[in-house]
Amino acid sequence: MFCTMTDKGDRSARQRVLFGVAAVLLLMPAAGWSATPAEPPAAPVTDADFYDNGAPVPAKVALGRQLFFDKILSGNRNISCATCHHPSLGSGDALALSIGEGGAGLGEDRKVASPVLGRVPRNAQPLYFVGAKSYTSMFHDGRVEADASGAFSSGFWTPAREQLPEGLDNVLAAQAMFPVLSHLEMAGHKGENAIATAVALDKLEGPNGAWELLAKRLRAIPAYVEAFRMAYPEIGEARDISFVHAANAIAVFETTAFRADGSPFDEYLRTGDASHLSAQARRGMDLFYGKAGCVACHSSKFQTDQGFHAIAMPQIGPGKAHGKDTSYWRATGFHDRVEDEGRYRVSFDPADMFRFRTPSLRNVALTGPWGHSGAYATLEDAVRHHLDPVAALERYNTNSATLPELDGVIEQTGTGSVLAFTPVDPRREADFFRRDRWVQDTQILRARIAEANELRPVSLADSEIGDLVAFLETLTDPASRDQRDLVPASVPSGLPVAN
Ligand code: HEC
Ligand code: HEC
Repeated sequence: MFCTMTDKGDRSARQRVLFGVAAVLLLMPAAGWSATPAEPPAAPVTDADFYDNGAPVPAKVALGRQLFFDKILSGNRNISCATCHHPSLGSGDALALSIGEGGAGLGEDRKVASPVLGRVPRNAQPLYFVGAKSYTSMFHDGRVEADASGAFSSGFWTPAREQLPEGLDNVLAAQAMFPVLSHLEMAGHKGENAIATAVALDKLEGPNGAWELLAKRLRAIPAYVEAFRMAYPEIGEARDISFVHAANAIAVFETTAFRADGSPFDEYLRTGDASHLSAQARRGMDLFYGKAGCVACHSSKFQTDQGFHAIAMPQIGPGKAHGKDTSYWRATGFHDRVEDEGRYRVSFDPADMFRFRTPSLRNVALTGPWGHSGAYATLEDAVRHHLDPVAALERYNTNSATLPELDGVIEQTGTGSVLAFTPVDPRREADFFRRDRWVQDTQILRARIAEANELRPVSLADSEIGDLVAFLETLTDPASRDQRDLVPASVPSGLPVAN
């Protein structure tokens, strides 16, 4: 197989030439191609690929749907999961970086309504196929994952460590425990509501922990009590409801709602009949699985190896603020470290520096902006980045990103009981906003990202890039283009559903 990763050993030049010739022969657009199609590159998607083997309990789907759209799960009751994962916006929010708690409006219309901590550090991931059993980790850095060490009774390795309760059905359900804890995404800020304050004090579990406070809110709404009872036989009365039940139901909803195997590519996988794909898309498919080397990482029926790779994607925005570089701090006085080291901040293995999880390419034409920080506003640019990652990183212009203006920002000072959120002095705002461009504008940081790159350049003609994009478009399930019918007319809390 063609390998574009520099760390995968070096074939001798002679072998490479021979292999090149073989690949060219294989890729020749043979006459009568559609009459005798090559083997499909993967097995078709089936019910068995998903949790509950594609047959979830309908009452759990219904409950999960209500919770997914209900702002009751946010500390200040002003944002739901759907705000950042909207069914009419490719299960994302059409922004490079989301505006979380404190924002108002949807997609590119989203604005700051009450002061925010800044941008969410990474691009909101699409939810297509996240309910496939082959997903062993969640988030761009995989920080929620099945716990191989056996260290945690929950069965999951997560930022909540031993505080994560037992009873979560799978890694997707474990993920749903976390957005509600994020000050930036859903919880709000210490002092604004009891949930945010509990999070600030690291009280997640137990009687006054953040998850219990959320469960209390749900128990107080009769329509939820009824919906939980329908979904879970073990729930007799309101006090039996826990946030684990809520997370499990949300995961069932996500699995069902965002399964998207009705694409032309799926038809081809099912039937072996390549006539479901245009001639251009078939050329793109041959490139993808051949000369262009995409399959080295975008493998399996979901086009991801579920692994982590460094491909020098540009970073915009504040990052996860755990890096070592202090240049932004020294230049501006804000205590942030802005470079996002990706998988390294989970594993602390130097080999993982700037690695991010290979994204699935299913429905990728619908899920822009692209890259872990949403740096690329077009799919073609995201593909072109792969041809020469380091050169693309150097060329990248932050002005091309879909980043809405922010006004009204606060900063976080201290931790634990001294944690405080205070408005940023207007005279310092310009320095605050330099965060968005800092990594890309700082030569030493770009050099570190470039150094970690493991994707070897590949030379493709413009027409071949067009072919690849045409192939990626065949991964779109037409039903996913607009799933507005998933949005409920109302939710049990009575809070407005429109964002
Ligand atoms: C403010 C925007 C925002 C809100 C609200 C939000 N998310 Fe997300 N979501 C994100 C971002 C950003 C990421 C990627 C974060 C990262 O990698 O650090 C993400 C990642 C995910 C993932 C991981 C997908 C994958 O492929 O690994 C899932 C699942 C998910 N969110 C579900 C939810 C659910 C369920 C809720 C509500 C309980 C929710 N999100 C609320 C922005 C949001
Ligand atoms: C070395 C592994 C590797 C190879 C080979 C590779 N990719 Fe990627 N690709 C990734 C990773 C990792 C990301 C996410 C990187 C990030 O956001 O930092 C990505 C991101 C993408 C994205 C953006 C998706 C999104 O949701 O943001 C597209 C599109 C894409 N790849 C297409 C391709 C194509 C087409 C090829 C072949 C020309 C290819 N990739 C080859 C690892 C790879």
